[in-house]
Amino acid sequence: MASPRTTEVGTVGSASPPQLWDPVVRLTHWGIALAVLLNGLVNDGGSTFHVSLGWMAMSLLVLRLVWGVLGPSEARFSAFPPNPGAALVHLRRLAAGRPKEHASHNPAGAMMVYAFWITLLVVIGSGLVLTGGATPMRIAADKAAVASGDWSALIVKDGGGANDSPRRETVEGVHEVAANLLLILAALHVAGVFVESRAMRRDLLAPMILGHRRK
Ligand code: HEM
Ligand code: HEM
Repeated sequence: MASPRTTEVGTVGSASPPQLWDPVVRLTHWGIALAVLLNGLVNDGGSTFHVSLGWMAMSLLVLRLVWGVLGPSEARFSAFPPNPGAALVHLRRLAAGRPKEHASHNPAGAMMVYAFWITLLVVIGSGLVLTGGATPMRIAADKAAVASGDWSALIVKDGGGANDSPRRETVEGVHEVAANLLLILAALHVAGVFVESRAMRRDLLAPMILGHRRK
């Protein structure tokens, strides 16, 4: 029977997966996950809190993408290049009970990671268009002004009150569809993490939290 610890020579020095992802990967992962789940499932689209979380996700995504060039070897894009062929081979081996270890995300996981990042860029970009790039502080100030009877803030923000213009409706549609796609990807991703952990007979989640307990 094939050992689940079989290794494969990867593009980085060692094929052992990280015992613990570095702090930047963990911080950006859980920060983005929190923002996506709260914005997609819980809070009001367009509220100041929603836009604040969106800006937080945007900052964390920028940090993670810079880290993909400057970070430790397993966090770099070069350690998990997008490769649909390799992803299919990985899934076939997984189905046959002979998955291989990789030094970073496995090739199927890597495809999921890039799908997340591209979809996040669409959601954040369309959100910025909807708010005219206004910061959360500016949005809060505009809302306070409107609440105190000064409607001029709304007129400036919506480009002359064109709140239901066809262009705005299209961007809203893109934002909503991409946000829903993020949630579908998240469900597949969590299922993938558990299936993969079982098949590899190791806990993939621990290295994304605090690592494996050392004696
Ligand atoms: C973190 C990722 C995000 C997710 C998952 C997300 C999700 C959503 C969802 C589900 C809606 C409700 C759509 C509807 O039912 O009409 C919405 C609305 C909205 N979002 Fe986001 N969003 C995100 C980021 C952002 C960002 C970064 C901004 C702005 C910078 C933003 C601005 C808005 C606005 C203005 C609306 C209201 C659109 C309208 O007028 O109906 N969102 N968002
Ligand atoms: C909307 C929510 C989520 C999003 C957008 C998301 C996104 C991501 C991304 C982009 C990565 C790659 C990390 C990097 O290299 O920076 C990743 C990895 C990972 N995520 Fe999530 N994630 C979400 C929720 C979760 C949840 C709820 C869990 C818990 C089961 C989880 C467990 C993991 C694990 C264990 C990895 C590392 C997989 C590996 O070893 O290759 N994620 N996730």
